[in-house]
Amino acid sequence: MTARITVLGTGYLGATHAACMAELGHDVLGVDLDPAKLAKLQAGEVPFYEPGLQEVLQRNLAAGRLRFTASYEEAAAWSDVHFLAVGTPQKKGELGSDLTAVESVIDQLGPLLREPAVIFGKSTVPVGTAARLGAAVRELAPAGDAVELAWNPEFLREGFGVQDTLHPDRLVLGLDRDNPGSGRAEAVAREIYAKLLAEDIPFLVTDLATAELVKAAANAFLATKISFINVMSDVCEAAGADVTTLADALGYDGRIGRGFLNAGIGFGGGCLPKDIRAFMARAGELGVGQTMAFLREVDSVNMGRRAAMVERTRNAIGGSLLGARIAVLGAAFKPDSDDVRDSPALNVAGQMQLHGAAVSVYDPKAMDNSRRLFPTLTYASSALDACAQADAVLVLTEWAEFRTMSPELLAQQVRNKVIIDGRNCLEPQQWRQHGWTYLGVGRP
Ligand code: UDX
Repeated sequence: MTARITVLGTGYLGATHAACMAELGHDVLGVDLDPAKLAKLQAGEVPFYEPGLQEVLQRNLAAGRLRFTASYEEAAAWSDVHFLAVGTPQKKGELGSDLTAVESVIDQLGPLLREPAVIFGKSTVPVGTAARLGAAVRELAPAGDAVELAWNPEFLREGFGVQDTLHPDRLVLGLDRDNPGSGRAEAVAREIYAKLLAEDIPFLVTDLATAELVKAAANAFLATKISFINVMSDVCEAAGADVTTLADALGYDGRIGRGFLNAGIGFGGGCLPKDIRAFMARAGELGVGQTMAFLREVDSVNMGRRAAMVERTRNAIGGSLLGARIAVLGAAFKPDSDDVRDSPALNVAGQMQLHGAAVSVYDPKAMDNSRRLFPTLTYASSALDACAQADAVLVLTEWAEFRTMSPELLAQQVRNKVIIDGRNCLEPQQWRQHGWTYLGVGRP
């Protein structure tokens, strides 16, 4: 069955969702206030780097299943099923999340809903938000109680957005059982996701609060795993053990799993850091801040990894960063992304510059975004260029291009053959064989 849906917000989440829903065969209208973004999308251009998304976008524009508009009037008149997919960044100077965009969508859409409608929230919001937004939209809408608000959190990873949307690990749908509206949300979701359900992807139907919490808890757990293995890497260094083998061995235990056990300079990006902070803030409001205190430690362990990398570099080059030339390979918060939001790599680069080092940065995709965020760093046009006359080479994002670099070739560029692997993504032996001092994280 073909559904007619709108996706409100065409940032990373919304653009991916809109294109993928069209790929499932639905008629999709993407709505955004930013005319530049809309023009790009309408022309088949993805405004950020996401492997595979451009093809899906272009294919569905060409098929006439997907288009974009700035008009909420058009959206409300065209469909009665709306996905809310705007961003919820961290508030400036506070741990909580900034819900301005989510609230503004409701304020704009609500008064236009004259007929029964279903709104699916996808944005990551503090638990309790969906119930509040539901009450607000019923108040604003001429259709009143016939408007149903449900929550359908997304779990997509940057770099795997298409795959994670079309073949997710699970689908979660939270329903407002006290305010069922037209009572159609579950049936509509089953229709929209019919192809996914046919693949036997687990579909969990629950209440609004649980649906909102699934996302917060999943990210908190993932962040905890990373900080756990990073703490273990310190223990490994103290004991002369190898954290990579430790993680492999732990990973074979099905209860633990190998995923998210890579030690290094820790997690960053537009999601994990802000989501665990928003979760802590919300837990505090709910009166369970104390039991969630461990998340503060998870966050603090994570932020400490960045300073530790600066220290490691300082020690590796003889005790002072002042006047040293440092090559930083990688600026994105993870490979296959051009996203530098809260990127550990850029943060380390910035800190080293503040300590007086001359830092030269190269990233395969994130150069423009990095320049915007950190205009004072020096940017090189290739990995080799960045390493010219370097006293140390730091690999801070595990791009394939860096994993396969030739130690011999690089040796001709640098002043000192010191390589520091902030992501444990290189083969230590291979580098040592060619006379390099190799330093990983938690590896002997
Ligand atoms: C994350 C969640 O995975 C996703 O489910 C959620 O919807 C949004 O947040 P994303 O931000 O795209 O997705 O990145 P992810 O792949 O989870 O990586 C987050 C950070 O953790 C990166 O900086 C990465 O380098 C780091 N990381 C990841 C580690 O340091 N070690 C690991 O073992 C895994």
